[in-house]
Amino acid sequence: MTKYVNAVINDESGEGGLPVLEGTLGPQAVDIQSLYSRHGLLAYDPGYRSTASCKSAITFVDGDAGILAYRGYPIEQLAARSHFLEVAYLLMFGELPSAREAEGFREAVCQHNLLHEQVISFYRGFRRDAHPMAIMVGVVGALSAFYHDDMDIRDPEQRINAAIRLVAKMPTIAAASYTYSTGRPLRYPRNEYDYAANFMQMLFGMPNRDFVLDPVQARAMDCILILHADHEQNASTSTVRMAASSGANPFACIAAGIASLWGPAHGGANEEVVKMLSEIGSPENIPRTIARAKDKGDTFRLMGFGHRVYKNFDPRAKVIQANAREVLGHLGLENDPLMAVALELEAIALKDEYFIERKLYPNVDFYSGLLLRAMGIPTKMFTAVFAVARTAGWVSQWLELHNDATHGIDRPRQLYVGETLRDYPRDRRG
Ligand code: CMC
Repeated sequence: MTKYVNAVINDESGEGGLPVLEGTLGPQAVDIQSLYSRHGLLAYDPGYRSTASCKSAITFVDGDAGILAYRGYPIEQLAARSHFLEVAYLLMFGELPSAREAEGFREAVCQHNLLHEQVISFYRGFRRDAHPMAIMVGVVGALSAFYHDDMDIRDPEQRINAAIRLVAKMPTIAAASYTYSTGRPLRYPRNEYDYAANFMQMLFGMPNRDFVLDPVQARAMDCILILHADHEQNASTSTVRMAASSGANPFACIAAGIASLWGPAHGGANEEVVKMLSEIGSPENIPRTIARAKDKGDTFRLMGFGHRVYKNFDPRAKVIQANAREVLGHLGLENDPLMAVALELEAIALKDEYFIERKLYPNVDFYSGLLLRAMGIPTKMFTAVFAVARTAGWVSQWLELHNDATHGIDRPRQLYVGETLRDYPRDRRG
């Protein structure tokens, strides 16, 4: 049954109601699509705090209850019992795969995980010290030159093919961004490994000796990938959708998503957390850092704290904290000084009125950096790992957008606050 809300506009005729849409979970949404055509009004919501930009059946987040679910499955259960490729399939197709579907998907990913040899030559054009995210934006965007003319995104089969290509190639691209910066030879994917283990062998393997896989670390990497795979309409996903709404090439759309993810308020935060913890150095310096975070005259923020949607514990942070402890213990790093600083910082912040009042809790990035660091992943690669994971979500959202025939180009309006119309001076020559 359609409900109507009249709170938005005071229409004395009583006919100005706007329909309220109900999802399966979460808040209802006022459908304001006719607001302008019927009432000449625009909705103003910079930062989209109260805007549902689309209908989506992929990921559900309840920020107050601290719930995250992919296609209805709670993240904690997926992290404990599933694996990344299964999760990627689930996100893309909506259901867990049968054994046959899972094998077919794995084979398709294995078939597409190599890079065109000409793509590899792009890497040499970057400075050795280039940030891996800068390289990834460039290389993934450049893939659109390899898969464009012969690709028809109106064809559902070709769309799935592009999505699989992206999921398959992303670890190869990310690992190559790292090995290039170290001067080591680029590693090819090896299909005898699963997705996460293959990523690790491409990051750390050397051509002159066998790669020895640590199953505990490979499982931790798999878990990191699952936790970061999707997060509904966050900045990078919205960027991908916005770019895709014009019908742009999928590789170019994902490159746009990578650019958005890079920012320190989004995926770049895991890198910033480790920098911040290193700068704090030891627990006695924590009060000074907390004071800076609370000081309105200082732009500093406690990195890895706070979230636009979670006003309770980020469920991913709990899983990743447990994982970080397990891996650090496994590697004999249980007395890691940065972990000690992180635990103490969390404890102090959670008791502080400033953080309590504003509902600022640790987010996924607070512990993911510590875990990645313990696994030998260099700080500059943290956000690249996030990008590998999030590609599964980005392509799923991209597929969903294109499967919705009613969705046209995204074209927000604005509240214009500039000069009113004025005449160009007659006596002035441009
Ligand atoms: N440290 C100190 N104060 C903070 C923080 C923080 N990390 N986060 C928010 N606040 C304060 C902010 O100053 C504001 O205070 P006041 O009401 O007095 O002006 C209040 O809390 C609300 O902040 P906001 O900027 O309106 O919140 P937002 O929803 O726009 O920002 C956020 C969300 C994640 C960008 C922000 O919390 C932040 O910058 N956190 C640090 C960066 C970070 O960890 N990002 C990773 C997000 S999780 C991974 C991902 O999904 O990308």
